Amino acid sequence: MSVVKSKMSASFSIVVLISGSGSNLQSIIDTIAAKKIPAKISAVISNKAEVYGLERAEQHGIPTEVIEHTQFENRESFDQQLQARIDHYQADLVVLAGFMRILTAPFVQHYSGRMLNIHPSLLPKYKGINTHQRALDDNAKQHGVSVHFVTPELDGGPVIAQASIAVKADDTAQSLAKRVLQYEHRIYPTVIQWFVEQRLSLGENGIIFDNQGLKNIIAYT
Ligand code: GRF
Repeated sequence: MSVVKSKMSASFSIVVLISGSGSNLQSIIDTIAAKKIPAKISAVISNKAEVYGLERAEQHGIPTEVIEHTQFENRESFDQQLQARIDHYQADLVVLAGFMRILTAPFVQHYSGRMLNIHPSLLPKYKGINTHQRALDDNAKQHGVSVHFVTPELDGGPVIAQASIAVKADDTAQSLAKRVLQYEHRIYPTVIQWFVEQRLSLGENGIIFDNQGLKNIIAYT
């Protein structure tokens, strides 16, 4: 039995897409290294050259690729190339980790049920960018982070788990971002672990967790 399991582990392929510093990527690398996620990162792909996340991957011997969106005529052709490269690595799971691109519907549908995103807000609040400033502008009492399955609607897919933090009177967008990021680094590896261990999937009627339809978003503390 254990032989079968270790074979499975080695073969579960994750491709991580980034656009920047890759601190979420680092948290996933570290959790895999700690043997908590039975998978390997087959490749890290960035739509921007020379971002620090690429260095992080290289330091851990993970293959990297840069596919610059600026080199493509339109979203469709960029996404087609991205898809070809992800599929080259036979990805079982695609992880968007600070990947700042809007994806086309055919691309998203191709990875339906096997693509996750992390978003720094309590979705459905503050889809898109500048989430921390928007929470402050709203005098929000709570802010946080969500992990969700990706669907064609931007930041609109079914939410799996959220971590919520209290907004302090003297918070700035920077201080909020820093505190939220600390939770990002814990919640994302945890959700990925659930997916890899087959505790989590996307069914026709929503998220399935431990063989049951998920009624409420999981509150991560
Ligand atoms: C994170 O806040 C993520 O939620 C957002 O972009 C940021 C990326 O940070 N989408 P990093 O590149 O993982 O450090």
